[in-house]
Amino acid sequence: MKLGVLTGGGDCPGLNAAIRAIVRASIKFGDIDVVGIKNGWKGLVDADAIPLDRDAVGGLLTKGGTVLGSTPSSVFKKEVSLGDLISGYNKLELNALIIIGGDSTLNLASKMSEEGLNVIGIPKTIDNDLEGTDRTIGFNTALTVAVEAIDRVHTTAESHHRVMIVEVMGRNAGWIAIMSGIAGGADIILIPEKPFNMDEVCKIIAKRHTIRDFTIMVVAEGAYEEGGKASYNDEEDAFGYNTLGGVANWLKKEIKNRMGYDTRSIILGHTQRGGTPTVSDRILATRFGVKAVELVKQSSYGSMVALKGDEIVEIPLKDAVKNRRVDDYWYEIANIFFG
Ligand code: F6P
Repeated sequence: MKLGVLTGGGDCPGLNAAIRAIVRASIKFGDIDVVGIKNGWKGLVDADAIPLDRDAVGGLLTKGGTVLGSTPSSVFKKEVSLGDLISGYNKLELNALIIIGGDSTLNLASKMSEEGLNVIGIPKTIDNDLEGTDRTIGFNTALTVAVEAIDRVHTTAESHHRVMIVEVMGRNAGWIAIMSGIAGGADIILIPEKPFNMDEVCKIIAKRHTIRDFTIMVVAEGAYEEGGKASYNDEEDAFGYNTLGGVANWLKKEIKNRMGYDTRSIILGHTQRGGTPTVSDRILATRFGVKAVELVKQSSYGSMVALKGDEIVEIPLKDAVKNRRVDDYWYEIANIFFG
């Protein structure tokens, strides 16, 4: 049989480890020829694919990004139709397609499956915001990068008695912020799930400075003031959608003006998405890749592989595409250490 692999949406560490696992499992299980779709959805529309044999995936376990390339799923909204994707699948004469993506990509995968194509999903995104799985590929690496940055900022904050604001990614979910803030000992964490009030933020910083004369704040890029909106820059992506990012700079000015503290902002941005995957992401990507090929062997299509506890399970694709946001349990743990 001919099995396609496609990576869609933003890249993250661990995609290549998943591609490698799919190829190696296909070789081991037998009777499956794998082709890699180049540049995500664009490659599927153009029926642009390359054969992936054992040689082609050599060295991929530790390599960040995706060797196949990717296009954002927003391309679908403006340039590509479901019919284009189906015709690409047919042109390539695929018997099945494994799609590795986040919410938008898997949403499309689900639609393709409803149209009768043999599709399996693998969840990836540094944001960890997918319903149906405890973890997505890339999250652990992003978290590790964020915690390392917070640790480094800590010592310089202490030396200069500063308020240091570290802005992390995560889109409209605060998973990277809440987890890195807890692990990095943040004195205050702002997440999109809990719109903030500047008077309260200042109170927490003021209290903190009566005990230690520096503050570490972690803020999610999607965090916003009560009554405001989650966009602190006027940039648009290639498809005209607002980008996130910049809330840390806005907060820096507010805190300086209101409290007079020497304040700095650090936006980690795409450093969280680059470089080699952590051990945890390598293992997760490998397990997801192997499970996806097992599902192909069983013709169990229309499903996504997922982590539940320590088990790799299969769930319906349509249940996976909802967003998962930070719940009160996590916020309350973090809140104990505020101030
Ligand atoms: O979804 C992953 C993510 O890195 C988000 O955390 C972030 O908002 C977005 O992608 C950035 O996208 P781009 O690569 O288009 O700048």
